[in-house]
Amino acid sequence: MKETSPIGIFDSGYGGLTVFRSIADQLPEYDYIYLGDNARSPYGDHSFETIYKYTLECVEWLFAKGCKLVILACNTASAKALRTIQQKDLPAKYPDRRVLGVIRPTAEVIGNFTQSNQVGVMGTRGTVNSESYLLEINKFFPDIKVLQQSCPMWVPLIENNEHLQPGADFFIDEYCSLLMAQSGDIDCVLLACTHYPLLLPKLRAVFPDYINILTQGEIVANGLVDYLKRHPEIENKIGRKKDKLFYTSGDPAAFNEHASIFFGEDVESNSM
Ligand code: DGL
Repeated sequence: MKETSPIGIFDSGYGGLTVFRSIADQLPEYDYIYLGDNARSPYGDHSFETIYKYTLECVEWLFAKGCKLVILACNTASAKALRTIQQKDLPAKYPDRRVLGVIRPTAEVIGNFTQSNQVGVMGTRGTVNSESYLLEINKFFPDIKVLQQSCPMWVPLIENNEHLQPGADFFIDEYCSLLMAQSGDIDCVLLACTHYPLLLPKLRAVFPDYINILTQGEIVANGLVDYLKRHPEIENKIGRKKDKLFYTSGDPAAFNEHASIFFGEDVESNSM
C-alpha cells in the first residue's frame, strides 16, 4: 500500500488556525496535523536562537508524525527560523521534506492591494525587527514603500480572549495611530501575524474606509495550491482521508476552548 502523509501546520499557539481554516476550505481533500506550541507562546519577543530552537523542535515533531510538508503558519517563526531550517537543517537531515512559510506568498501578491504603493505592516516585535517583509516585498515590488509597526500587546490580548473587550481598545488605537503617523499615504495594511484576523472588527472601525486591511489566510492557501501544482512529487504523497488532527504543547482542554474562535468549528485536541 502507498505510504501517505499529512500536511503539517505549525504556529506558536492559536493564530495558525486562521491560516489552517483557509487552507482546509481550499484543499478539503487532504489530511492535516496542526501543532500549536501553546506552552511556550507567545514567540514574538523571544530571541532568534530561541524561536529557531522552538520552531525546529516542532517541525521535527511533525516530521516524526509523518509530515513531509510543513507550513509555518506563523510570521514570527517564518521570519526568524524558516531560512535556517530550509538552508541548513533540511539539506543535512531531511532532504526529502519541505517547510514553507507565510511571508513569501504574502510578499508575492501585496502589490495587487495598493494603489499608493505604501503598505503598512503590523506584526510582532520579532517579525518587525527581522525586517523580513521589507526584504521580501522589495524583491517582488521594489517601488513599494513598507512602513512597519510592532504590536506586542495584541497576541497576549488575543490568546487570553480579551481582544474584543473595551480594555483592548487602548492598545488597538495606539498601534494603529503609530502606524498611520508614519505616512499619510498608506492605503493597505497587512496584518502580518496570524493571530490578528481576530481583531478585524475593531481594526475596521479604527482605520479609515479607504484602507485595505489584508489578512493572510486566503493568500497562504492560494500559495499552497500553486505550490502543490508545481510539485506533484510532494502532492502525490499527501493522504486524502480528510483527517484533521490537532495537537498542543499546552493543555488540550484550554486549547479546545479557545481554538474554535480561530478555526470556526469545534476542535478536539491532543497533548503533543
Ligand atoms: N501567530 C504568530 C505570528 O504570526 C504570533 C506570534 C507569537 O507567538 O508572538 O507571528
